[in-house]
Amino acid sequence: MTTLRKRALIQLIGLSAVSLAALTACGKKDEAPAAPAAAPAAQAPAADKLKIGFMYVSPIGDGGWTFQHELARKAIQEKFGDKIETSMVESVPESADAERVMRDMAGQGNKLIFATSFGYQEFVQKVAADLKNVKFEHATGYKTADNVAIYDSKTFEGAYLAGIVAGGMTKTKTVGVVASVPIPEVVRNINSFVLGAQSVDPAIKAKVVWVNEWFAPPKESEAATSLINGGVDVMYQNTNSPAVLKTAEERGVRAFGKDGDMSAFAPKAHLGSAVINWTPYYTKVVEDTLAGKWQGGSYWWGVKEGAMDLVKIADDVPQEIKDKVEKAKAGLKDGSFSVWTGPIKDNAGKEVLSAGKVADEPFLKAINFYVSGIEGSVPGAR
Ligand code: GUN
Repeated sequence: MTTLRKRALIQLIGLSAVSLAALTACGKKDEAPAAPAAAPAAQAPAADKLKIGFMYVSPIGDGGWTFQHELARKAIQEKFGDKIETSMVESVPESADAERVMRDMAGQGNKLIFATSFGYQEFVQKVAADLKNVKFEHATGYKTADNVAIYDSKTFEGAYLAGIVAGGMTKTKTVGVVASVPIPEVVRNINSFVLGAQSVDPAIKAKVVWVNEWFAPPKESEAATSLINGGVDVMYQNTNSPAVLKTAEERGVRAFGKDGDMSAFAPKAHLGSAVINWTPYYTKVVEDTLAGKWQGGSYWWGVKEGAMDLVKIADDVPQEIKDKVEKAKAGLKDGSFSVWTGPIKDNAGKEVLSAGKVADEPFLKAINFYVSGIEGSVPGAR
């Protein structure tokens, strides 16, 4: 990373020294060009090296979603050493730019491409149909193909665990969520956060503000401000940056880190971070590919698989709430507990899951309603 680029990132999101050090601990060899420019010029790869490209929707300095993908890329590069050669392109919009970047990656000899955001889906399908000798891994999508696997982390489990903490900390009994793009994954996370809070106090209400983008720090801050002005005193978000947390710090309310450990961005406001660990899955994919056993398919790993956790719960959270979080975590690990267990009602009073029923994957992946206690309706839902 050039000094200029580092400075730009720091200005962009106020990246902490801690996070920046973690990022720049990376070697220079696999440095990315300014996004969304083409991948680096081809250097004759050793014939037996597996070249792997990563395409990111936000900057690697976002402190959250993309930062975690980047940490996992570094981890696999370290683990597999000279068996693989990874590179990445950051800040690639979910538009025809994505197609251009993936074709370019393939042209540079990448045989495995990770496309790490939902909105890349149609572009992945199109490019994969043309380039059958390249394998694609699409994060959070729902369309597979012979050479396209889909994968995600059970972010809703982290949201539920954070919700328990929120339920134990809210004084106004009103929690809030800054939401990104209205797809089932995000709606599921909002609901799961609220279900966690209501597991502590069923009377808790929730407000949601949508910014319709994954990474838009100024908009995220504005949304957080409007939630606080509306009486919310504990916030969660499904956006990529720490802007919500930083706004909470400025306004004297509480919030969470999401996807990455965001504790350093807001030491007073931070209640915990729901962190994704992509390394176990990326390790599996590389192992399979190197062994000629890549099969495609659909993968959804969570707390049980070490892909999701709530870390750094604040000291002032009551012990009984911390115990409740640990109990839920243990249940998720051994399979005895499921976040989406009935009875659950939507916010119009209709039962969506009957008592004792555990939601299956098709149910979870099609959620387009708010649970009881959330104000308003899901954009686009009827
Ligand atoms: N940030 C950027 N893309 C995504 C996505 O597809 N899902 C989530 N949770 N966060 C993102």
